[in-house]
Amino acid sequence: MSSNLSANKEFSKIVNSMKPSAIESILKAIGDPDMISFGGGLPNPDSFPVDDVKRIFNELITSSGRKMLQYGATEGLNALNITLAKRMKQQLSIECEPSQIVQTTGSQEALYILGKILANPGDYVISEAPTYLGAITAFRASGVRMVGVEMDKSGMKIDSLRATLKKYPNPKFMYVLPNFQNPSGISMTLERRKELLEVAWENGISVLEDDPYGSLRYSGSHLPALKALDRNDNVTYLGTFSKVLAPGFRLGYTITTPEIVDKMKLVKQALDLASSTISEYLAEAYISGGYIDRWIPNVIELYRRKRDLMINSLEEYLPKGVEFTRPEGGMFVWVTKKGANTDKMLEEAIKKKVLYVVGSEFYPDGDNHESMRLNFTYSSDEKIVEGIKRLGKVFDNAGK
Ligand SMILES: Cc1ncc(COP(=O)(O)O)c(C=O)c1O
Repeated sequence: MSSNLSANKEFSKIVNSMKPSAIESILKAIGDPDMISFGGGLPNPDSFPVDDVKRIFNELITSSGRKMLQYGATEGLNALNITLAKRMKQQLSIECEPSQIVQTTGSQEALYILGKILANPGDYVISEAPTYLGAITAFRASGVRMVGVEMDKSGMKIDSLRATLKKYPNPKFMYVLPNFQNPSGISMTLERRKELLEVAWENGISVLEDDPYGSLRYSGSHLPALKALDRNDNVTYLGTFSKVLAPGFRLGYTITTPEIVDKMKLVKQALDLASSTISEYLAEAYISGGYIDRWIPNVIELYRRKRDLMINSLEEYLPKGVEFTRPEGGMFVWVTKKGANTDKMLEEAIKKKVLYVVGSEFYPDGDNHESMRLNFTYSSDEKIVEGIKRLGKVFDNAGK
């Protein structure tokens, strides 16, 4: 019997327009022990600094237990924001005051909050196409409409951006992932970063820079963040502890203007009052005790090996005509075959017990079916090789 509360007509238009993402079904399939999943964007559990966290936790619970277990400030632990502001300057040349930082419950929460405060339902937002699925979900939850701009191997195409702005002249902001983009693995070149900032400034559009993977570079040289290049206070920067500490902390941070900080706090108070004080204390000690800088090289070494193994396996086992990106960092490879339909191929892949995320999920209009996203960080080395062999067969059969 359906109650008045659960009958569909009682739900809001926005929630009725939302659909479960492909990630959800993929997370379920991970339960099958024979399945090899390149689907979820999961860090490898070996990348978690378990011993460091244990040590820091034991010290902090003894010295500061009563503060660490209390509610915290909406913008986050002051000591963490001070430590982070220093680190942003040292590591990324991003100049900011601690008061320009808001801690959020993962950067995912920041995406939701920023969608809510920077745009009205029905407004347009520009993103790369493809773009991060979780951002599409977060922005859509506020009724925001997304317009994707095509990319090439150097990032968002600037001529396409200009053409899109002619058609949609007043987007509320532009959402971009300059480093090792999720899903494509592509990094924006320095020239492209500068051009993008210029176009945004000329057209009065603020930029949302999402950078969860910036510290996970396995080859090539560091490129400056948009926020570091920006001279006009036009960029809001999102970072997270999920990939350099652990996603279980659910801690991310936004660096932005004092005005946006104030508005973010209003929405955050409606969502969860404040992020986890326990996570904030631990994250502060993880940075200020130097643990983070000693640990990240281990993560880089682990993931570089896995990236190389996946690329080598793709070269060996995928049939001719299948193309793939060669990311310099991050967690994903983007595989494309002209004329293929990766949505249709997924059924065969599941039969062969290998999972990927269909490319169409990452396009705001869902209208591109030739690609798939593969995660290379989660699976064991043996499973990477075996999974790509299976995927090769899926492509072989799709071509018949
Ligand atoms: C591009 C991007 N942004 C944001 C997030 C959200 O991360 P978290 O909420 O764990 O900080 C992710 C997670 O995978 C991501 O890939």
